Amino acid sequence: MGELVLAAKITHVPSIWLSIQPGRHFGIRRPAELALTEIGRRARELGADTFLIADTHWMNSIGFHLNGKERHRDSYASHELPHFIHDLDYDYPGDPELAEQLRAEIVAGGQKALVHTYRDLGLEYATLVPMHFMNEDSAVRVLPIGCNIYSSIDENRRIGEALLRGIQRSERKVAFLASGSLSHAFPPNETAESLLNEVSSPLNRKIDMAVLDMWAEGRIEEFLDMLPDYNARCTGEGAMADTAMLFGLLGWRSYKGRGEQLCPYFGSTGTGQVVVDFPVPAYDKI
Ligand SMILES: [Fe+2]
Repeated sequence: MGELVLAAKITHVPSIWLSIQPGRHFGIRRPAELALTEIGRRARELGADTFLIADTHWMNSIGFHLNGKERHRDSYASHELPHFIHDLDYDYPGDPELAEQLRAEIVAGGQKALVHTYRDLGLEYATLVPMHFMNEDSAVRVLPIGCNIYSSIDENRRIGEALLRGIQRSERKVAFLASGSLSHAFPPNETAESLLNEVSSPLNRKIDMAVLDMWAEGRIEEFLDMLPDYNARCTGEGAMADTAMLFGLLGWRSYKGRGEQLCPYFGSTGTGQVVVDFPVPAYDKI
């Protein structure tokens, strides 16, 4: 029987990539680098076979999609920020078998999902940046699920629940990564560069901090009650689909865990970023 061994909300911002390149930004995101590395270490210690990543930069507009390629091997440049991320070579094993099991479980739950193996369907940077720190030796399989930007929080809760059922019916030990921002209000272009280390507004920062308090104190029901509003008012990245999937996997309102924050909250070009590890509950057998 398969098992969810780790579940975390993680950052993937390009400034982390800049932080490991020579130049004036070198080292600016060191705490986030260390936090991502620590998540990778924990996943391995827990015996993870596969990183299942809700990738908020694989933005889908119809349905739910899994990249089930046998091997993810290519070179990447960001279309959004080519000056930040380019010439990123990657080579990771994929997980077609688990992709198919997860697809079947999502479909059995009444939602639409497809697995793809197209040659040109590459990985996005919400997968690639974290994998650089967590999976440097490519020992763990990589399976991205896209985030539907027109989906509701409730749809993504159901996706998360289906992912858990699929994992439990598989042979895999899975580390789930919700790879996305907290608040995500990008500043206007003319001021964007001056906000490299800032959050767009004091209000967004305060709401993000309140969310982190809720997670740390185990006030998950309170958080879930406001999640749709949080997504709408704080410009959720990828519809906050990653976060809704995460809590769907963890048991939604029944989840009693407390998040463990692994790096200080930080602003990055107006957006609110963090890494939080959520203890996996002892599930009833399905
Ligand atoms: Fe992002």
